[in-house]
Amino acid sequence: MHTWTTSNMHNQACTVLVLLALCHSLTASTNDSKCQCDEAKIKRGGFPENFLWGAGTAAYQVEGAYNESGKGPSMWDNFTHTYPGKIADHTTGDIAVDSYHYFKEDIKIAKDLGLDAFRFSISWSRILPRGNRDGGVNQEGINYYNNVINDLLANDIQPFVTMFHFNVPQALEDAYGGFLSSRIVSDFRDFADILFSQFGDRVKYWIPLNEPWTFSNHGYAIGKFAPGRCSEWQQLNCTGGDSGTEPYIVTHNQLLAHAAVVNLYRTKYQISQKGKIGITLASIWFEPFNATNENTKAKDRALDFMLGWFMQPLTFGKYPRSMRIRVGNRLPNFNNTERDMLINSFDFIGLNYYTSRYALNKPNATSWSFITDSEVDIVVERGNKSIGELSVAGSWLQIYPKGLRELLKYTKMKYNNTIIYITENGLNEARNDSMTIQEAVKDNMRKDYIHDHLCCIHQAIQQFEVNVIGYFVWSLIDNFEWAYGYSVRFGINYVDYDDNLLTRYPKHSALWYKSILVKRTHIAQPLASKDTKMNRTENYPSNFLDQ
Ligand SMILES: *[C@@H]1O[C@H](CO)[C@@H](O)[C@H](O)[C@H]1NC(C)=O
Ligand SMILES: *[C@@H]1O[C@H](CO)[C@@H](O)[C@H](O)[C@H]1NC(C)=O
Ligand SMILES: *[C@@H]1O[C@H](CO)[C@@H](O)[C@H](O)[C@H]1NC(C)=O
Ligand SMILES: *[C@@H]1O[C@H](CO)[C@@H](O)[C@H](O)[C@H]1NC(C)=O
Ligand SMILES: *[C@@H]1O[C@H](CO)[C@@H](O)[C@H](O)[C@H]1NC(C)=O
Ligand SMILES: *[C@@H]1O[C@H](CO)[C@@H](O)[C@H](O)[C@H]1NC(C)=O
Ligand SMILES: *[C@@H]1O[C@H](CO)[C@@H](O)[C@H](O)[C@H]1NC(C)=O
Ligand SMILES: *[C@@H]1O[C@H](CO)[C@@H](O)[C@H](O)[C@H]1NC(C)=O
Ligand SMILES: *[C@@H]1O[C@H](CO)[C@@H](O)[C@H](O)[C@H]1NC(C)=O
Ligand SMILES: *[C@@H]1O[C@H](CO)[C@@H](O)[C@H](O)[C@H]1NC(C)=O
Ligand SMILES: *[C@@H]1O[C@H](CO)[C@@H](O)[C@H](O)[C@H]1NC(C)=O
Repeated sequence: MHTWTTSNMHNQACTVLVLLALCHSLTASTNDSKCQCDEAKIKRGGFPENFLWGAGTAAYQVEGAYNESGKGPSMWDNFTHTYPGKIADHTTGDIAVDSYHYFKEDIKIAKDLGLDAFRFSISWSRILPRGNRDGGVNQEGINYYNNVINDLLANDIQPFVTMFHFNVPQALEDAYGGFLSSRIVSDFRDFADILFSQFGDRVKYWIPLNEPWTFSNHGYAIGKFAPGRCSEWQQLNCTGGDSGTEPYIVTHNQLLAHAAVVNLYRTKYQISQKGKIGITLASIWFEPFNATNENTKAKDRALDFMLGWFMQPLTFGKYPRSMRIRVGNRLPNFNNTERDMLINSFDFIGLNYYTSRYALNKPNATSWSFITDSEVDIVVERGNKSIGELSVAGSWLQIYPKGLRELLKYTKMKYNNTIIYITENGLNEARNDSMTIQEAVKDNMRKDYIHDHLCCIHQAIQQFEVNVIGYFVWSLIDNFEWAYGYSVRFGINYVDYDDNLLTRYPKHSALWYKSILVKRTHIAQPLASKDTKMNRTENYPSNFLDQ
């Protein structure tokens, strides 16, 4: 047992309380990356009644139609067009999987899966082509999202709407550097105001920010995502930037923008519209490299610099102490007004979990960068054993389901037992154009990944009483995976990129997900046997599973 629970306290509990069975079962296992699983409960009926089952997408990754119907350019349009070398397969999201035109088909797929909820994001520059209200509202953009929302509701699917998923209107990048400037706060609030007033009568779940850590880290500390900035000394082929200051400024402005939008919703809309508003945060789980005091503290710091960077201000109005000490005056401060606005500025937390790492103490950072300030070395291997299996050679995604359970326990313990949705969880696969579609849809590894993570969520709810009330697979369909372009596939539905119609086919993971989501009332219907449910392909060519 090499987990977060291997603290001294837990070891003592094992010996002192002689929890023989538990201690034995944990230590006896040579590889305990998974949770104990109550197999019979891994289905809709085994989870709490109000638990929402969903899947997600994001605008730039699926919509395409990048210059159609009045949409203005975004920073990802600019990034992919200006620096094709920064995208693994030199592609763009210009067309993506064309959900702008195929949204009804995608919603039909969601309906056929039996989803309760669908998470998608709104393209800021499709609504405000110049980024701000003065530049005019694009009515065709409003119409598009009205159609999406109405079609979801007509199919009994709750829209979960992300407002900002990595993509600033290019006009605001040009005007003041986007999130590098606090001017973004009022423009983002104006954008949100339009969304609440146009869609809030029907949208009851709002997520102003998606993964602000990823936006700050990937965009401004390591330069992998738009706008591709970082310090020159890091030799990451960036085009300007300062990894020691900009990530902190960008996160600060994201938090202020988030708080401003929540404040707007609560003062102007929430009482009449009766929706919920939250935030989606990404976190890796970290295990200490070994049980030494210094590596256990390194694990805590790694979590502070990823999850605590956001949760600490949102709960207590301050950045984590470990960050304040190490980053010093490069870390901005909140004044009293801002602090009061931040504290409790969410009705729920969305957590995106994919993978885990070992944390190793690495004292005395010699250069200023967000990636060294935590004084933690984040590593994949210990004793030549990787923390988890890979589905794609060289990928960042090591499979470690237990990390999700630990992350949930930690979030509950540290941040006041908040309501949590798992807003993303899923597995990548390498795109392999030599495979037939029939071969490519056999994604048993993804099916197992989703199953194993659901086991850990189930255990977190049942055994540790974590308040998790929903789960969204990432992603509903294959799509443009940012710096990886189309070289990896994250969908539970396959997209045939060789076909001009970008036809979608369900993978085995989708059929399995559908099978566990079947509602009890439906099982009772004589005509819907389990087999026909598993096999229904009304949205798809009927022979897709044939060999
Ligand atoms: C959109 O871009 C395509 C090329 O990517 C171009 O052919 C087309 O004219 C553009 N449409 C508009 C409205 O600018
Ligand atoms: C990207 O933005 C820069 C700065 O505004 C601009 O000079 C450049 O033309 C843009 N590139 C593309 C391909 O739109
Ligand atoms: C560096 O970035 C340029 C674009 O700015 C790109 O063309 C080139 O392939 C990149 N080189 C490496 C080694 O990533
Ligand atoms: C823990 O890991 C550190 C860093 O590699 C190493 O120096 C130390 O000897 C290890 N301690 C134990 C008790 O394994
Ligand atoms: C706090 O900062 C905001 C800008 O975010 C400013 O408008 C406000 O006046 C400041 N309040 C105090 C009490 O300093
Ligand atoms: C780190 O710095 C502290 C105080 O500046 C010093 O005592 C310690 O030896 C240094 N550790 C390493 C590993 O360089
Ligand atoms: C790890 O592998 C390398 C060679 O690949 C070997 O030299 C080393 O002893 C191994 N370390 C451990 C801890 O097994
Ligand atoms: C656990 O098993 C997986 C799959 O076999 C492997 O990739 C991983 O390295 C193992 N982890 C440990 C810590 O042994
Ligand atoms: C969270 O818990 C801490 C410590 O128990 C408490 O001081 C704080 O007021 C709580 N915050 C909220 C928002 O409930
Ligand atoms: C791609 O798929 C083909 C056909 O199944 C297979 O032979 C080949 O090994 C695969 N390539 C990779 C890199 O997995
Ligand atoms: C699905 O349909 C095929 C052919 O129509 C049939 O052979 C099979 O038994 C059905 N059920 C499952 C679970 O595949």
